[in-house]
Amino acid sequence: MTKSESTGLPVDTERLVDVVQDRLSEVGDLDELRSLETEVLGKKSELSLAHRSLGGLEPDARRRAGAVLGETKSRIETLISEKREELEEVSRRRQLEADRLDLTEVVRESGRGHVHLVQRTRDELEDVFIGMGFSVAEGPEAETDWYNFEALNMPPAHPARSMFDTFYLELGEPDAVLLRTHTSPVQIRVMQSQPPPIYSVMPGRAYRRETADARHTSIFHQIEGLVVDRGISFADLAGTIEIFTSAYFGPDIHARLRPAFFPFTEPSAEFEITCTICKGSGCRTCSHAGWVELGGCGMVDPAVFAAVDIDDEKWTGFAFGFGIDRCAQMRHEIPDMRILLENDVRFLRQA
Ligand code: PHE
Repeated sequence: MTKSESTGLPVDTERLVDVVQDRLSEVGDLDELRSLETEVLGKKSELSLAHRSLGGLEPDARRRAGAVLGETKSRIETLISEKREELEEVSRRRQLEADRLDLTEVVRESGRGHVHLVQRTRDELEDVFIGMGFSVAEGPEAETDWYNFEALNMPPAHPARSMFDTFYLELGEPDAVLLRTHTSPVQIRVMQSQPPPIYSVMPGRAYRRETADARHTSIFHQIEGLVVDRGISFADLAGTIEIFTSAYFGPDIHARLRPAFFPFTEPSAEFEITCTICKGSGCRTCSHAGWVELGGCGMVDPAVFAAVDIDDEKWTGFAFGFGIDRCAQMRHEIPDMRILLENDVRFLRQA
């Protein structure tokens, strides 16, 4: 300890304040601050020792030295409390940062999980159609017979109903409520809820009593499309499907339409795309046809317009519906669709 000449104290108070200031600039957290505080202000500190030595001084010198010590102590206390406030502010900010919920977080790439491939495919398909000016609508998975069949021009006992193996629910009258066999009932709901012009896609789950195999599962996903406007023709339908196909699958993949039958469209077509596995040259997946069926489509049947009170003299339209799972299968070359439902983590992690 060096004796200070001016005060007669065993400590150089100016130097002490400088030292404290230097040490404080090194302090990184509240724990370090507490131990520095004990060191410079505690019982064993230079300052306390100096205080204890006051008794050996003459009364005048004691008063002066006491005042110097008191002032030094309060300067050091001020420095420490300023530092404490600064550190508390930093730790508050860190806590806030850590607690903040980032609602924009994309979980897809993180270790915490993935968006399921079917959901991702659905999102991507929606994006393609939104880019083409469509809006997105949804409807219930448990439907009434009227929406699923009757309004779509399939009255009770209509033979076309046998195209769909249906799960009926024990709800209300027998056979009144069912798990929708396709997303087409949402066409009806959309036409009931808004006047034309309509440019809408309707993705969702559908159910059929199927024996599961590599290309069929009882629960599957479809995306329905509906356009109702003035002067819509079959060429608009074909063009929309072709544009969608190359936008989603790439420029090498094309669409073709083949005559088919659906009670709710007239004329109707099956919609096929170039097999993505062999690019059209023929392989096992496409049964050597070079083409794979994706869904159905056609011009909205006047009987459907009649069910929702749309004047078919004024408005025409087209509709299409195809499998989302099938799109995922074709785009990602998945040999067996059942894997989409099995929740095998080895598959989920890759997807
Ligand atoms: N709903 C039909 C099916 O699931 C597909 C389809 C939709 C056909 C729209 C024509 C128009 O098989």
